[in-house]
Amino acid sequence: FRIVVLISGGGSNLAALLEACADPAYGVRVVAVGADRDGIAGLKTASAAGVPTFADRVKDYSARAEWDQALTGHVAAFEPDLVVSAGFLKLVGPLFLDRFEGRYVNTHNSLLPAFPGMNGPRDALEYGVKIAGATLFFVDAGVDTGPILAQVAVPVLGDDDVDTLTERIKTAERAQLVECVGRLAQHGWTLTGRKVTVP
Ligand code: GRF
Repeated sequence: FRIVVLISGGGSNLAALLEACADPAYGVRVVAVGADRDGIAGLKTASAAGVPTFADRVKDYSARAEWDQALTGHVAAFEPDLVVSAGFLKLVGPLFLDRFEGRYVNTHNSLLPAFPGMNGPRDALEYGVKIAGATLFFVDAGVDTGPILAQVAVPVLGDDDVDTLTERIKTAERAQLVECVGRLAQHGWTLTGRKVTVP
């Protein structure tokens, strides 16, 4: 089961996936890692693991549609069964969705539909919720609106700051991502409207 992972940063979710993939029983192979920028830790992690990488920077293209086309082509060339956005900070374009919708998941650091966007843990803390978490969902054309595959909750503690809450969420998020990708690889899935079924 081939996955392409898209990242924009540290890549701790990617590292967790790579670690899981080292066990043949997991049944998943990271065939490429793509990014929207160079020089990030996640790309080094991928290279160190012998995984091919590519970076498509929006600013290198004269129009967003061209970037969309390039990214779609680069991902498609690796013939993934599933594309995993793990801290990838770009909204993909219509071409990408045409090709991969239903096979493109994103992990987000809040319990959607609460706190979409870039600052899930900070927004949760500021709002004062007592339970936070992470959501794995199939990406659609909206921002963090697609059909939900899985969610995991963690407590918000009285003395949390953004960093401690972020780390607690990320620990649960990585475990959820690894577990779910493994299940998708093993059992496949069907998507009917917003209903996700993993047999
Ligand atoms: C994850 O918590 C994800 O939800 C958020 O960015 C973080 C990426 O972390 N959008 P990493 O790069 O995988 O360490």
